[in-house]
Amino acid sequence: MKRIAFITSGGDAPGMNACVRAIVKTCLNNSITPVAYFDGYQGMIENRYKEMQFKDVDNVIQQGGTIIGTARSEEFRTPEGRLKAKENLIANKIDGFICIGGDGSFKGAQLLASEMDIPVIGIPGTIDNDIYGTDHTIGFDTALNTVIEAVDRIRDTASSHKRLFFIEVMGRDAGFIALSSAIASGADSVLIPEELTDFNVLIKDIKNQNKGRRGSIIIVAEGDDGGGAKEVCVRVQSVLNDYSCRYSVLGHIQRGGRPSALDRKLASILGVNAVLGLMNGEADIMLGVFGDKIEKTSLTDAISKKSHPKLDGLSVLNNLITSH
Ligand code: F6P
Repeated sequence: MKRIAFITSGGDAPGMNACVRAIVKTCLNNSITPVAYFDGYQGMIENRYKEMQFKDVDNVIQQGGTIIGTARSEEFRTPEGRLKAKENLIANKIDGFICIGGDGSFKGAQLLASEMDIPVIGIPGTIDNDIYGTDHTIGFDTALNTVIEAVDRIRDTASSHKRLFFIEVMGRDAGFIALSSAIASGADSVLIPEELTDFNVLIKDIKNQNKGRRGSIIIVAEGDDGGGAKEVCVRVQSVLNDYSCRYSVLGHIQRGGRPSALDRKLASILGVNAVLGLMNGEADIMLGVFGDKIEKTSLTDAISKKSHPKLDGLSVLNNLITSH
């Protein structure tokens, strides 16, 4: 293993820079040239890359976003786009590839591996936490902490004005951020894609718990079947017109900011182990963590199997309601 290419791909996530740093340093400390391609697969297609040095990763561990850029490349989905990327990797004598991203990015990595002979290792990086084969993805913990801080602030207004607030958090396909943040922020309830939203039950529940008469918070996952926070809020307000309902969409503030200690640690551990894995002949796997243990999952499983939050979180929340 002489030259390892790597990218960050898909939505940026806090901690990606810590991972880039770990890959670069581990490569250099093992006489391997770390080659960063810019803006994910798009940079591979356009042959935009840099042979990284120690100084390139000075003071990046604490930065959010990704210093090497990211993208959701449409061109890479085409055989022509991938052919260009493959030709560039071959010309650049790349003999191993690490992809930091979500399952969409891993699909690209797997296609590339099947179209050229190159070992690939995936590192789960997305705030959504919706990757099979790991307890945590890089960025999830930071996003969660950002959500908690925002909810704490909104709660001040909710309780001062005795309003019912619907707060929308990210998570297109899974309710990890919603469920965890609902428990950790002391929310009154949560709407997640894993559970069908029944408006009649929701209204009854709001009335029973007198939620509109005191400051109440309901977390809504952006991917919930009942719609986003705005839609849910408008619908509830139209039925409970003597309540004061508001909504807030937290949006991309959840993706930015200094990574938490947990994300930096996770990113560093996975980055180091991805390089060591390639050096040891590993291929077509994703590295994840379960508790303290690093686990390998085949890229096929990481791509095809879905990950969702444990629904016993809902029962925790149900036991924490204010019933009178
Ligand atoms: O996958 C991460 C994520 O932040 C999702 O939670 C969200 O649905 C999506 O990305 C937003 O993507 P974009 O920034 O491309 O609009």
